[in-house]
Amino acid sequence: MKKSIRTGTVLTLIGLLLSSSLYAAEVKSLRGDKDIAAESDRAVVKKNIRDRDPIPRNYVQQPPLIPHKIKGYKINLKFNKCLTCHSWANYKQSGATKISLTHFKGRDGQDLSNISPRRYFCTQCHVRQTEATPLVENEFHAVKAIHR
Ligand code: HEC
Ligand code: HEC
Repeated sequence: MKKSIRTGTVLTLIGLLLSSSLYAAEVKSLRGDKDIAAESDRAVVKKNIRDRDPIPRNYVQQPPLIPHKIKGYKINLKFNKCLTCHSWANYKQSGATKISLTHFKGRDGQDLSNISPRRYFCTQCHVRQTEATPLVENEFHAVKAIHR
């Protein structure tokens, strides 16, 4: 009895090993099977874009992409560099877009008098851009509500 349980366990393990290696063989990244290191010269992540006009959005709920450099812009408990230009108090002087009303809504939908803690860490949603060739071709089309 004991022996057959053991044989069973061994067989199951072999089966698992076999199926996982088969499964692993089928998984292929979108990038293909090229080594990342071989491609790394294309992914120049450090090359910041030059400051430019706002980048068209792809869908209405999209957090707009950051169209300028943000190197050295600190965001911590005491200081938020982004707000020195994008807050309602400063946007006129800096010529930046002011943060929208949605950024003043609390977790339960209540209206707040200052930016919601949920929106404080800007780069959680808004991403800076780089001059890198895309590693994978992208066929995404923007929604019709934005582009006809
Ligand atoms: C020195 C001022 C300044 C600082 C600091 C700054 N920005 Fe900006 N930002 C601008 C200006 C100016 C624009 C462009 C406005 C225009 O051309 O309509 C802009 C545009 C943007 C936009 C595009 C808005 C849109 O409608 O497409 C986003 C998103 C943005 N900034 C996010 C950030 C974030 C996040 C930070 C902090 C990491 C930051 N900015 C820091 C001045 C600033
Ligand atoms: C949780 C995600 C999130 C965070 C964090 C966040 N945003 Fe946004 N932001 C959005 C989304 C989504 C939009 C587009 C819809 C809207 O206006 O709410 C947006 C819109 C904007 C716009 C364009 C407003 C307009 O009228 O077109 C600016 C500028 C902006 N955000 C700046 C900031 C700054 C600066 C911070 C940090 C202080 C920040 N955001 C934090 C998600 C976020």
